[in-house]
Amino acid sequence: MMEAQSLNDRVVVITGGAGGIAKGIAEAVLEAGGRVALLDLDKAKVAAAAAALNVRDRAMSAAADVTDPANLDAAFAEIVARMGRVDGLVNNAGIVRLGPADETKPAGLDLEMAVNVKGVLLAAQAAARHFGERGGAIVNIASNAGKVGYRNMAGYNASKAAVISLTRSLSLEWAERRINVNAVCPGGVATDMLKSVADFLAPRLGQDKEALFGTMVPAQLGRHIQPVEVGRVVAFLLSDAAEIIRGQSISIDGGDTPY
Ligand SMILES: NC(=O)c1ccc[n+]([C@@H]2O[C@H](COP(=O)([O-])OP(=O)(O)OC[C@H]3O[C@@H](n4cnc5c(N)ncnc54)[C@H](O)[C@@H]3O)[C@@H](O)[C@H]2O)c1
Repeated sequence: MMEAQSLNDRVVVITGGAGGIAKGIAEAVLEAGGRVALLDLDKAKVAAAAAALNVRDRAMSAAADVTDPANLDAAFAEIVARMGRVDGLVNNAGIVRLGPADETKPAGLDLEMAVNVKGVLLAAQAAARHFGERGGAIVNIASNAGKVGYRNMAGYNASKAAVISLTRSLSLEWAERRINVNAVCPGGVATDMLKSVADFLAPRLGQDKEALFGTMVPAQLGRHIQPVEVGRVVAFLLSDAAEIIRGQSISIDGGDTPY
């Protein structure tokens, strides 16, 4: 591996760290020589996710709700105390509420916006406070849903479009602090989140859940995208080699979205 692509002991905080894509991101960051701090709501679940990586002191976990700045501050303080520094952040925590647009309830929409949008900005602020003079890198996990939109997830689509916008704003404002901010826009990745979408849609389309999940693959690719494949793109964007890519939201959906 080229040196510029190496993460070389850098500490990367991954929010939503107990989830499916987070596991693949953590594996890719470790593969590139970095260290990871997984952050998620449930203390036991995120501790188990860190332990499952099987890398001892190169991974840790912390419990926090990304919508709560005090929670985030405490978690980042714990991470710096354990790992000595923070060099990167992957804003991966996210939720999806499924249903037709005209049945969307205010409380559900508020929660989606709180986790997917407010949580991204608050975690970015917390990370930026810890990057210091060396600067750092942030990768936001948006979605191709933020570019093209899908049925039955109007709030989610809007929240991911907001993440794409936040990525541009933070990149612009924080460049002088040597912080590089980009986003990736995955399509369907083989995780529980995608399974929940198949479970929701199958009865409405009169289809079998498993069969429908099997068809939720990018046409050009002809197979599901795996979490570690998302992770390898994220690890590259966290590295020095990606310094010339700034404020971008890169589709990683097997060609489904041609921009
Ligand atoms: N799976 C896909 O097909 C897909 C496609 C495009 C984008 N994404 C995005 O990728 C990211 C990860 O998705 P995933 O498929 O791994 O989902 P997942 O449900 O497996 O993981 C999401 C994690 O976020 C955590 N989380 C939720 N609310 C939180 C909060 N307030 N504070 C801290 N953590 C919180 C959950 O506990 C969970 O562990 C999400 O942002 C999602 O929108 C997923």
